Amino acid sequence: MYEVKPATSWTTDFDHADPAYNANAHEIWDELRETCPVAHTDRYGGAWLPVRHEDVSAIARDTDHFSSEGAVLSNKPPRDEWISNAPIGGAPPITSDPPFHADARRLLLPAFSPQVINEWEPEIRRLCNELIDNMGESLTVDAAVQYAQNIPVYVIARMLGLPVEDSDYFRDTVHLVLEGIGAPFGERQQSFEQLDAYLSKHVQDHIENPKDDLIGFLLNARIYDQPLSPAHVVGTIILLMVAGIDTTWSAIGSSIWHLAQYPSDLARMVNEPELLPTAIEELLRAYAPVTMARIVSKDATIGGCPVKRGDSVLLPFPAANRDPEVFDRADEVVIDREENRHVAFGLGIHRCLGSNLARLELRVAVEVFIARFPKFDLANADAVTWSLGQVRGPRKLPVRIVQRS
Ligand code: HEM
Repeated sequence: MYEVKPATSWTTDFDHADPAYNANAHEIWDELRETCPVAHTDRYGGAWLPVRHEDVSAIARDTDHFSSEGAVLSNKPPRDEWISNAPIGGAPPITSDPPFHADARRLLLPAFSPQVINEWEPEIRRLCNELIDNMGESLTVDAAVQYAQNIPVYVIARMLGLPVEDSDYFRDTVHLVLEGIGAPFGERQQSFEQLDAYLSKHVQDHIENPKDDLIGFLLNARIYDQPLSPAHVVGTIILLMVAGIDTTWSAIGSSIWHLAQYPSDLARMVNEPELLPTAIEELLRAYAPVTMARIVSKDATIGGCPVKRGDSVLLPFPAANRDPEVFDRADEVVIDREENRHVAFGLGIHRCLGSNLARLELRVAVEVFIARFPKFDLANADAVTWSLGQVRGPRKLPVRIVQRS
């Protein structure tokens, strides 16, 4: 495991791979908002961290100055040694810029419409119940390891048409992309080449034996009247795995972490099921898991602070969601919050394309968990661990089951 040199200051030396960052993210963002709303680090070739809603939204909307080619902030060679593949990027459309972005996004939309996604509800519900059945009668269960981490990986493997038995490999891959950000570039590169070979083998199998799944869908899709290039197909598969796994796993885990500590919220959600959709939106606001990154493509300013071409910027949508300028009682979970224009799914042209699926998985996962375990609390608050990097959620979450149904 790669050791990260601890950050010496969140204002001038932040590092999202420092375990203390995600473990204390809400406090760090609150303090930065008060003292230094656009923080900086020299790490990763130089990067900025704006935490105000206003600055995060302005950057997300400004594709002229901020490119999505650097969607993950990680160790890379200096910017001028990169071989740029803009505007497509390695994982279209999340790494793509206009005008290509709109075409790469449009072709995926039908596969993620509510009608297509809602068909998956019975299978997700069956899986969630099976995971709970497998826990047996244990008094303590790990809600991250035995529950949350298994749901999105299974669903996206089934949707893509990849073997569910390879779930551990998919989780390792996501770990490499999102958490191994401080590892030497060469090491990451080697693992990406292996992933490319693995996926290319499955794409070839789909070409020889056509299937009605997402890989089949990508193979039949066309852009500018041409089939997608092999790099586009594999890049989009990687995106769907990365975007689909850690994110929803983190949102499910954080929601259970919250309910384990707030018995009155848990009791209301158990007793007033009609509240669930509103409560889920509030949990998404308060515990939004996804921070994105951008590369400055032309000199610009962020909240009055000048930034240079080639600098990186973290885009913490979760910090924007806790900005008291925009949300009343921003640091509290108000499970019946009526007005809630949160940005957990981002905003602007890259707004999450999988939000129907993410909401379905999160709602069903929470619904089943609280139906089967109407009372639970944290078994050991100190044993909870958090992910590293841009996607934030619990990775160990021991929960004590107080009541089963
Ligand atoms: C709770 C779970 C999720 C959260 C919080 C989330 C959040 C986000 C955010 C913030 C973005 C914007 C990226 C940017 O501005 O650069 C995004 C984009 C995207 N997400 Fe999600 N996501 C989740 C689950 C999913 C799932 C399950 C899928 C599909 C399997 C998915 C697919 C995508 C795709 C394809 C994009 C890129 C859209 C584009 O570039 O036009 N996401 N997501």
